Amino acid sequence: MKTKKYCFVLSLLLLTLNLSDSYGKEKFESLIVTDLKSEYATNPLGIDVAPQFSWRLESDQRGVQQDAYRVMVSSTLEKLHSDNGDIWDSGKIDSPTSAGILFDGKDLESRQRYYWKVKVWQGANSVSEWSEPAFFEMGLLNEDDWKTNWIGYAPGMPGRILYFKGTYAPHKPIKQARAYIAGLGYYELFINREKVGDHVLDPAQSNYSERVYYVTYDITDYLRPEANSFVIPVGHGWLGTGRLRLQVEIDYQDNTREILSSDRFRSVITGPTMYSSIFDGEQYDARLDVPHIHEPGVPPLLMNKEWAWAHNTDDPAGKMVAQKIEPIRIVEQITPTLVKEPSPGVYVFDAGRNLAGWAAIKVKGDAGTKVTLRFAETLYDNGFINQDNLRNAKAEDTYILAGTGVETWEPSFTYHGFRYVQVEGFPYPPTPDDITIKVVRSDVKRTGSFHSSNPLLNDINQMVVNTEAANLHSVPTDCPQRDERMGWLNDLTVRIEQAIYNFDFSRFYPKYMDDVHDTQDIHGTVTCVAPFLFGARPADPVSASYLLLAQKCYEFYGDKRIIADHFDGMKAWVDYLYSRTNDGIVEYSYYGDWCPPRDFLMDPNGSGVSRDTPGQLMSTGYLYYCALLLADMAEVIDRAEDVVHYRKLSEEIYDAFNREYWNEEVGGYASNNQASNSFALYLGMADEDKAPRVLTNLVNDVKKHDYHLTTGNLCTKYLLEVLTEHGHAEVAYKIATQTTYPSWGFMLANGATTLWERWEYLTGDAMNSHNHPMMGSVGSWFYKYILGIIPDFNNPGFEQFTIKPYIMKDLTFAEGSFDTIKGTIKVSYQKQGNRLTMDVTVPANTTALMHVPARNLRSVTENGKNISSVNEISFVKEENGYVVLKVGSGDYQFNSRI
Ligand code: BGC
Repeated sequence: MKTKKYCFVLSLLLLTLNLSDSYGKEKFESLIVTDLKSEYATNPLGIDVAPQFSWRLESDQRGVQQDAYRVMVSSTLEKLHSDNGDIWDSGKIDSPTSAGILFDGKDLESRQRYYWKVKVWQGANSVSEWSEPAFFEMGLLNEDDWKTNWIGYAPGMPGRILYFKGTYAPHKPIKQARAYIAGLGYYELFINREKVGDHVLDPAQSNYSERVYYVTYDITDYLRPEANSFVIPVGHGWLGTGRLRLQVEIDYQDNTREILSSDRFRSVITGPTMYSSIFDGEQYDARLDVPHIHEPGVPPLLMNKEWAWAHNTDDPAGKMVAQKIEPIRIVEQITPTLVKEPSPGVYVFDAGRNLAGWAAIKVKGDAGTKVTLRFAETLYDNGFINQDNLRNAKAEDTYILAGTGVETWEPSFTYHGFRYVQVEGFPYPPTPDDITIKVVRSDVKRTGSFHSSNPLLNDINQMVVNTEAANLHSVPTDCPQRDERMGWLNDLTVRIEQAIYNFDFSRFYPKYMDDVHDTQDIHGTVTCVAPFLFGARPADPVSASYLLLAQKCYEFYGDKRIIADHFDGMKAWVDYLYSRTNDGIVEYSYYGDWCPPRDFLMDPNGSGVSRDTPGQLMSTGYLYYCALLLADMAEVIDRAEDVVHYRKLSEEIYDAFNREYWNEEVGGYASNNQASNSFALYLGMADEDKAPRVLTNLVNDVKKHDYHLTTGNLCTKYLLEVLTEHGHAEVAYKIATQTTYPSWGFMLANGATTLWERWEYLTGDAMNSHNHPMMGSVGSWFYKYILGIIPDFNNPGFEQFTIKPYIMKDLTFAEGSFDTIKGTIKVSYQKQGNRLTMDVTVPANTTALMHVPARNLRSVTENGKNISSVNEISFVKEENGYVVLKVGSGDYQFNSRI
């Protein structure tokens, strides 16, 4: 909503534009529509849904606002250029929205590429040029489009990689070629020895009986006019035995099409990878290399001692779905340092930080020499690697040399979580030059940055980012190293916000929503882990992540479709939880506020269950939270009855929670501990009479523990946020900057580069991961409270947002940025005595509710000017040490007295 003053200024501006052609033109040219995305991707190939569109505006002027837009979609570039939107022309739509715009044109067809462009209006008369064209190409939309079967080789040795092979010689000139491919568990595609694309560990993991992801490749440039070889190694990955479904479509210049189906790729051989397992690693015997595998041709007799003939197999039952998330890629390469030779011939290398990926080696030696690489997060005192906490994962790769000169190798279908690599069997002392660490993860873009005058905060932030990055492998995993690596919904509940400030999840989270949805049964239950490989059904009720994923995708990316698509599923989960209540209290819990410090565990030598925070309190609190989330989301998609129903349900749970857990005598909830009280305050369970007492108890408890937390994975988030928002930001700051146990500083002081699973430093054979994102919610606290960047659910996709930093005594400066769907928000401030200088950037087509820390309005200037004289700013109010201003897009510098 614009203020009157803002509208007046805008009208004046538009008047000027109308009157003066030359000025009008200048203004016209300074508004550029850019960064066009379909399904949150730039020019995607092979999507299978009508896309949602988004774009950004760029301008060198302040106060840029989109008032209307027009999207045009054409079947050819020529038509688009001549403004013929034969597929869709939205016409001029009065709306500031520039994300989550649903395509609403003709039916989209398999394989077709569509071109689109956008123009926008500011005010009635000022219109941008059309954007540069963008495109999206559809994949195979119907099961009928698949003219190829799943093939496999059942007698194939368990654990071995199967290499499927095919040959194709074009008989006329090619216009374009596509490969539609899915190989389970993992595959790669080589054409004429060259790897197609740069994905690793494809396809994205899913519940294969519900959906299987295929990728569309443009392979036109990989093909030669003469015979071409296709080689497709397939590993069992998460599946069991490898299976392949590949369809190659060649469009010739004479407008005919040839489809190469599975029959073309049935020659199969086991090759040099003797064993491959995600947890255990790979064994590769280079003596078994089949050099002629890449030579075009069909093996004699189709089946012989070397080659087998692949059979049709059962399909994995799931529907074929286009893989629409960022692939896993090698995102960084590190030259490690050699740390130790703990015994002769055993060398330990250090990657410098804990990460997920693998090591590539370069080696020369006699045929048959066996080099072993073993991976671990920590070292024993004697310098050898410590793999005790990997439980059943072997995390070991072996390479047997062919003896053919300098050989290079890296695994294909495994990955490890590690900092240290122990190398044995090298024919000579390896140098760091012989080992390259490859960092591997879903290649989602980094979106946030944070830096402050306190190096400890910066180190904690880096530790959080390292941990999140190491746990993105098409599923948000709990850890990357031991025999687990799974998407735990309880951990995710407090992880999403941290993650979404640091990385772009506009595609990853909708995919993961589908994973969760695929676990759901007719009773509405979802499972602890998605895809469901582990844990229990029903999931722990703390798994609000199911709803939060949708809520955050809407809030951060303007993705309304995710709410519409999953509303019934989310509702069924909430209804299920409600069905498990007795007098409004959810009757079950497994983990609750999981893994508080050891002294607060039910059994100090047992699992992570809290002694003092009742599991059912957590379960019931989350049912209340979910009912409210659902009501809010129902409102977004106009489900009025659900709004009323779930608000009402939340009231019932509210009463039950207070009845069951409020302790009038002490003035706190349940055992009056940090977790129970902070969770209750976060949820708004305490009314005006109760809240001050709860808060006092909470602060006193923190002081009693000498400013240390006693919370587990979930309530740590609420503790920091509640203290900050209720007038005790300095207390939260002290907790966050502790260096003694239990704290993030304690982890760092003990050499951590990624977050631990436990607050204790433990390295034994148990639940002792050193790379566990669930403890990283402090990461969102940096963005939300130190930088103060807060989205607005009612103005999703950052149409409007808040900037409200809490200025901590100890910090002389803080700076950071967040790359939103609309553009990059920047915030930086410096303190000198009682003077504050604050620079902010508000992206085009957004408005910030700017909270300038200041005594009063008079003490605030922008670029040396009084606020009242700055056109793009309007005053809202003074509030608790802040001057609140509504600020249009642009760069600003505020000065204030605090
Ligand atoms: C996972 C955790 C999860 C827990 C629940 C563990 O094995 O690693 O992250 O919260 O199980 O029991």
